[in-house]
Amino acid sequence: MPRYSITTFGCQMNVHDSERMHDVLRRAGYTEAGGPEEADVLVLNTCSVREKAEQKLRSEVGRLARWKRERTDRVVVVAGCVAQQEGERLLKQMRAIDVVVGPDNIPELPGLLGDLALGGLPVARTVFDLDAPRFLVASPSSSSRAAPTAFVTIMKGCDERCSFCIVPHTRGPERYRSSDEIVAEIAGLVAAGTREVTLLGQTVNSYRDPLGALPRAPGASADDPDESEFAALLRRVAADVPGLARLRYTSPHPRHLTPSLVLAHAELAVLPRHVHMPVQSGSDRVLRRMIRRYTRAEYVARTRALVEAVPGLTLSTDIIVGFSGETEDDFAATLSLVREVGFKGLFGFKYSRRPHTPALKLPDDVPEGVKGERLSRLFEASEALLAAHLSGLVGTTQAVLVEGRDKERGAGGARGQGGALWSGRTGRHEIAHIEGAAELDRLGDVVEVSIARANKHSLQAELTEAARAAARPRQRGGAEPGPARRSLPVVAAEGG
Ligand code: SAH
Ligand code: F3S
Repeated sequence: MPRYSITTFGCQMNVHDSERMHDVLRRAGYTEAGGPEEADVLVLNTCSVREKAEQKLRSEVGRLARWKRERTDRVVVVAGCVAQQEGERLLKQMRAIDVVVGPDNIPELPGLLGDLALGGLPVARTVFDLDAPRFLVASPSSSSRAAPTAFVTIMKGCDERCSFCIVPHTRGPERYRSSDEIVAEIAGLVAAGTREVTLLGQTVNSYRDPLGALPRAPGASADDPDESEFAALLRRVAADVPGLARLRYTSPHPRHLTPSLVLAHAELAVLPRHVHMPVQSGSDRVLRRMIRRYTRAEYVARTRALVEAVPGLTLSTDIIVGFSGETEDDFAATLSLVREVGFKGLFGFKYSRRPHTPALKLPDDVPEGVKGERLSRLFEASEALLAAHLSGLVGTTQAVLVEGRDKERGAGGARGQGGALWSGRTGRHEIAHIEGAAELDRLGDVVEVSIARANKHSLQAELTEAARAAARPRQRGGAEPGPARRSLPVVAAEGG
């Protein structure tokens, strides 16, 4: 049986696409190799959102040329956004590549590999499924429990035209999945053991049901062009899948953070008290050049409404530094916005000029050194906010969804008895390492912990007495241990 391996670059959408490629390949009779060296088919799921990500692919393929020469039947597949962006050109530029497959063509992968095995020539398939959009779902596994957390795609593509962004080009126009299908997938996952679902989309909160099956959500205005059916979808998932512990989503666009969504957050307990809301810049001048279609004041007012509706809700964001024409004053406005909103997490990026983007018309005129220096100052500001936030949680009690085992005893700087064995996330998405929790026996439980210490980016926690007592009886009953979450190699999720 041929063995395959997948390496993933980039965003959660790519992580999700890689999971679907695992499914598609397994169903076609392939088995997962222990590592890339042992594979017959190597898939690189690529990202092109910044130039650095694209360079990574090029150096990786260079390395693989040698790997291929060792055995002529080895196959290199390039998937993801670079595949979509470059198509056939990749085959011409890099002889080591055998198959180029776009995000909408994943189901065709086994067929393309089959043709190749029969002597077919290298091939590129990068066609958007505009007329009949396909949303691949995870195949239910009959033998084991599902992972405690899962992604569910609700829309793909993007109709915004942020001037810096290549995504509308690589992922095509917006296409939505029906709410019936979304609810059915989530219900299936929850029945198999999943506790937390993250709804995925490029502008996830612009969602509309293509079949018009959702009632208007409370608070939704009929004549606000920014209104969508996202709040209605959240309400339907909450009502129809009561076993779901947490319902997250990423990434929303600030324009669609409307009163109906704020109200959903206020009323639905399943929505956690954390939202990632990309802002990109704190300067109106830069926001206009970025074609973000909101002002700083609008962003602040909308996120403030959310925080007022859900006390204690935290926000994280994406920021680009050194965009075309960004002055020191513009950057100072970004820093002041970071402090004003008080983001508890931040992905920061140096502006990188991308092909097929409107901003190609603007000069990339902020020197690399200035971009780097602004990025450091940005991280400094956000680290200080995060440190203050995390240390403020010491001594509190939090509900943690157990998502994984820490790699080693004592990981995360644990000094407690037995070291940190388990880790998970609080309702606000802070990472918590749970020390000495021998009573826990499986992933997916939501347990009560008290926060003992703050690390730089995470919390050190202990089970509360009540949580220990609740865990013990089941352990005596010998409940079967849950599976460790299969971890996909994720590269370049963060940085600059
Ligand atoms: N809506 C998408 C955004 C994809 S890009 C989502 O679901 O996350 C992710 C982030 O990368 C953006 O929010 C932006 O901060 C950053 N980014 C996009 N294009 C960029 C570019 N050309 N240079 C630097 N950073 C960029
Ligand atoms: Fe990109 Fe803007 Fe869409 S950042 S994905 S064009 S909302």
